[in-house]
Amino acid sequence: MNLPQPAENAGTQALTVLFVDQSGQLGGAEFALLSLAGLYASRGKVVLLSEGPFRTRLEALGVHVQVIGSKHVSNIHRQSMRFGWLRALPGIASQVRAIAAEAKRFDVLFLNTQKALVLGALGKPFHRRPVIWYLHDIMSAQHFGFVQRVIVKWMVRHMVDRVVANSHASAQALAALTGCATDTLAVVHNGIDTSIFDSFGTLDAGDIAALRRRLGLPEHVWLAGLFGRIAPWKGQHVAIAALARLHDVHLVLVGDALYGEHAYAQELHSLAQRLGVTERVHFVGFRDDVPAWMKAMDVIVHTSTEPEPFGRVIVEGMAATKPVIATAAGGVTEIIRHRHNGWLVQLGDEKELADAVSTLRASPDLAQRLADQGRADAQRDFSLDGFLRKMTQEIANTARQ
Ligand code: UDP
Ligand code: GLC
Repeated sequence: MNLPQPAENAGTQALTVLFVDQSGQLGGAEFALLSLAGLYASRGKVVLLSEGPFRTRLEALGVHVQVIGSKHVSNIHRQSMRFGWLRALPGIASQVRAIAAEAKRFDVLFLNTQKALVLGALGKPFHRRPVIWYLHDIMSAQHFGFVQRVIVKWMVRHMVDRVVANSHASAQALAALTGCATDTLAVVHNGIDTSIFDSFGTLDAGDIAALRRRLGLPEHVWLAGLFGRIAPWKGQHVAIAALARLHDVHLVLVGDALYGEHAYAQELHSLAQRLGVTERVHFVGFRDDVPAWMKAMDVIVHTSTEPEPFGRVIVEGMAATKPVIATAAGGVTEIIRHRHNGWLVQLGDEKELADAVSTLRASPDLAQRLADQGRADAQRDFSLDGFLRKMTQEIANTARQ
């Protein structure tokens, strides 16, 4: 694939960029940054606020990574901001200083998560660099505590030069929070490298059976795959409940509790047991080869019970040429058009999900039509190349402000 070069594409001299992300884990925001930071490997650097496999993945692309961590700051969680901040103050101050000192060596500061936003933007009086924030969340009261929303609002109004949201849904929620006009916020959807899925070629029934054998999956049953980290709002419980309404369908849960949601993971096992579907639910943990796992499925389901800010897994399912069923809220409705390139269901409605699975199972032609259109749309509207071009342009525009 011919990736755009930052300098030429931006129409400016080569810009250097310091990226900051709070997580060492591999979540969607980190996968989005992975490709962008890879593009800037020779003239950029990534600061992470914690260690983890994300570091290794960045370094494998030749990206220079520095971890600037603080245990107290890492311990601040979404809903427990009130007192956490006080205890973390000294750590915050030293991280702000360390990031600002780094930022001075670059043209632009690119912040990829909310803690990165706070720690990177607070240092603006010291580094005086243009700040761009890539927003990956729907900043609603449902998801984020009052203190966090007030801080984000203040940062966006006073410290950030450009906000780029991962969907119109995320942009609209931020506009509602901050009072900014929606047209002052850019929207750049994530891009997916669809070529990774091409290497599988066209798989016939025999190839799929062999692939399932390799992955340790049952060969001759109808498989629904749910991809994503294990977390209550990702709705794995809805998929298990839907499974109980379906006969001889199996469910494969691909993903792990990345941010400590182990109690929920345990609840999922208990739920499967209670509903008598243990034999038909396969918990396979986090996988590095998502394209192969997607190719092994008959249908991909997405079950988030709250509006999904974007949903990379949905586009990946489309890129794998699989029919995708997803919950109709947030960024998802910017990706899926019902009965055209996928199937939409209401949030948290296990009956509707089970009915949708049954419909697609009973109509292979319909399922194939949706999958083919999904693949075409993923390639046209959510290409990695398009994502990198738009982001490079946003970075260049921010540098010029
Ligand atoms: N993913 C992965 N291995 C897994 C489960 C998920 O690599 O076992 C990837 C998946 O392919 C996708 C990302 O994690 O690119 C999840 O991103 P998404 O935007 O769907 O959700 P998020 O977790 O960021 O809310
Ligand atoms: C976040 C969101 C997810 C989105 C990803 C990449 O993790 O939860 O919906 O796809 O960021 O922007």
